[in-house]
Amino acid sequence: MSLFRRRGKLPPPDSVPRHIAIVMDGNGRWASRRGLPRAAGHAAGAETFRRIATHCRDIGVGYLTVYAFSTENWKRPEDEVSQIFSLLEKYLAEAAEKMERDKIRLRILGDTSVLSSKLRRMIADTELISSQYTGFQANICVNYGARDEILRAAESFVRAGDAPTEEAFSAALYSGGIPDPDLLIRPGGETRLSNFLLWQLAYAELYFTDILWPDFTPDDLNRAVAAYNGRTRRFGGI
Ligand code: FPP
Repeated sequence: MSLFRRRGKLPPPDSVPRHIAIVMDGNGRWASRRGLPRAAGHAAGAETFRRIATHCRDIGVGYLTVYAFSTENWKRPEDEVSQIFSLLEKYLAEAAEKMERDKIRLRILGDTSVLSSKLRRMIADTELISSQYTGFQANICVNYGARDEILRAAESFVRAGDAPTEEAFSAALYSGGIPDPDLLIRPGGETRLSNFLLWQLAYAELYFTDILWPDFTPDDLNRAVAAYNGRTRRFGGI
């Protein structure tokens, strides 16, 4: 094993994936192991997101997409759901304040129509202000489900009476205009996709680790990038 892999050394810029997607899993277990409420795990997870987003920007990743709240997460207890949305509000308020300095483009992917009017306004404002930036882009999936996304796109073509091309179909997804992820990282020990970016991940490299999301460090991200660089991507060719 090379030094690069063991230490998770900073990857050279030309070997960095353009788009990394992450399922931020393991917050609940991280909190339980410390005798803390699950909300503390989500708060720590939101901190990890901040650190990892900054690191991705610094090493030259173009897009980072994270799964913050799925269409299935409404099944969780009401107070846990509202705590996740509070963290999101807090992040958006902070992002709006620091946008000038950080120049991070931000997009929320998912069905936002059912969110509170306050949150929808914050999302619209942050997306609008940050759309002027052309560097690193963070995408946060909220009330997102890949099947829901695919059905909505399909319905839009049925309504228009059009037969979609692959390109037009991609453009009709929540992620329209964003290149497909090159690398999917799922911490937390589970090895499934959980209805995340099912269309967009068609040719992504998948990386699973037992580390719980709040413990996931920039070094861990470098290790995932190193593993990605050890893969041969054939896109169906030989
Ligand atoms: C999965 O872990 C995590 C979630 C469903 C919520 C993730 C949300 C955040 C990190 C906060 C969002 C805020 C920002 C700023 C992006 P789990 O709860 O399923 O963990 P477990 O499997 O250990 O129970």
